Amino acid sequence: MKRLFKPYSLYRESTFAYNKLVNIHTLRKRGGEFYRWVLIEVENKEEEAVATEKLNIGIILGSTRDGRVSPQVGEWVKGIAEQRGDANYEIVDIAEFQLPFLGTTDGTEPGIAAWNEKLAGLDGFVFIVQEYNHSITGALKNAVDFAREAWFNKAAGIVSYGSTGGARAAEHLRGILGELLVADVRTHPTLSLFTDFENFTTLKPAELHQKNVNEMLDQVIAWSGALKTLRPS
Ligand SMILES: Cc1cc2nc3c(=O)[nH]c(=O)nc-3n(C[C@H](O)[C@H](O)[C@H](O)COP(=O)(O)O)c2cc1C
Repeated sequence: MKRLFKPYSLYRESTFAYNKLVNIHTLRKRGGEFYRWVLIEVENKEEEAVATEKLNIGIILGSTRDGRVSPQVGEWVKGIAEQRGDANYEIVDIAEFQLPFLGTTDGTEPGIAAWNEKLAGLDGFVFIVQEYNHSITGALKNAVDFAREAWFNKAAGIVSYGSTGGARAAEHLRGILGELLVADVRTHPTLSLFTDFENFTTLKPAELHQKNVNEMLDQVIAWSGALKTLRPS
């Protein structure tokens, strides 16, 4: 029997009987933020591996145009996420997959299979969403449509930007995700092109967004862990 002290976000109640939980420690301060920690008991190496296994979260860049700002936003979110140490976070750039327009080819392009494989290996997502004509980009919708089962029973957060924080695009994406059994979390950081970017091109996010990104990630991690138990291992 071994006792482990872990951030609450790494502990998934669904993978353990409740009697493995020794204690949930009340809020502790780390970098000015409050965190919960759990003390759990593991019987053997296998249980320890499950207890400490990190989720894989993809930060999906929704735009593909030359001069896009989404890589800056994605890297900023990744920087915040990596300080948490509670999951493996990676940028997933849809441009790299060179997906054709759905239905216009025989579907043998390697990028289609690679895209599905990439999504299949992820437990949750953070979508970097930009507003194009009050909705998401055609490139993101096309990429979303190119997969089906690889989306099912996973969680997602949205970070959006635009003249009104990309809110209209984000709300459209929520409707799309529902059809694909992706559970989108509530907290939604919205960046303004006017106040969170210099000259609409250089990201200079206001301080308050950092807290929102962390709150969104808390929710994505909790739901990604819970939903993982619904998928065949
Ligand atoms: C085709 C197009 C349509 C756009 N429509 C909107 C819009 O409806 N609302 C908005 O707030 N911004 C709109 N914008 C501005 C974009 O949100 C802004 O350029 C943003 O930086 C685009 O993201 P990207 O740089 O990652 O491509 C539009 C931009 C493009 C290219």
